[in-house]
Amino acid sequence: MKIKPRTAEHSATVLADFILPGSANMVGTVFGGKVLEMVDKAAGVCAMRHSNKLCVTVAMDRVEFHVPIRVGSLLVAESRLARVGRTSMTVRVEVYAEDLMTGRRLRTNSCTVTMVAVDRRGKPTPVPPLAEG
Ligand SMILES: CC(C)(COP(=O)(O)OP(=O)(O)OC[C@H]1O[C@@H](n2cnc3c(N)ncnc32)[C@H](O)[C@@H]1OP(=O)(O)O)[C@@H](O)C(=O)NCCC(=O)NCCS
Repeated sequence: MKIKPRTAEHSATVLADFILPGSANMVGTVFGGKVLEMVDKAAGVCAMRHSNKLCVTVAMDRVEFHVPIRVGSLLVAESRLARVGRTSMTVRVEVYAEDLMTGRRLRTNSCTVTMVAVDRRGKPTPVPPLAEG
């Protein structure tokens, strides 16, 4: 049976988390692993919204941290499908740090994540194609 295509808008996702001192590294800015966790969650939610299936991370491209993120910032991860294969979905994630006192928002990094939809046995399973528009 053919699966009905879905647009990238359908699954576009925004996740936000207030950064508390428990997420700081030794110099008082955000631990890189915290940012990667947000990236992975935002990509996973996007892939699961698109497919309505369980999804696992199969690959994550190079991540660079150019801007330190201060404790007390709002960390925002925006994810959107860039490409859909038979069972895999490529998700682009943009990460921002928002200063809640000034409202200033800085893009801190971006990342491309490949997620794969799996069945209950953990085997790849087909997902809806990506519709235009
Ligand atoms: C993801 C997983 C189910 C894929 O299983 P597999 O036997 O390699 O499956 P396949 O070779 O049939 O590939 C399935 C899809 O993944 C894609 N894929 C596989 N490895 C990839 C990689 N390294 N990068 C990008 N895409 C990849 C394939 O191109 C294919 O896409 P398509 O169906 O859209 O054409 C399996 O590798 C796995 O369980 N990995 C662990 C996932 C996990 O635990 N993630 C959490 C990180 S700790």
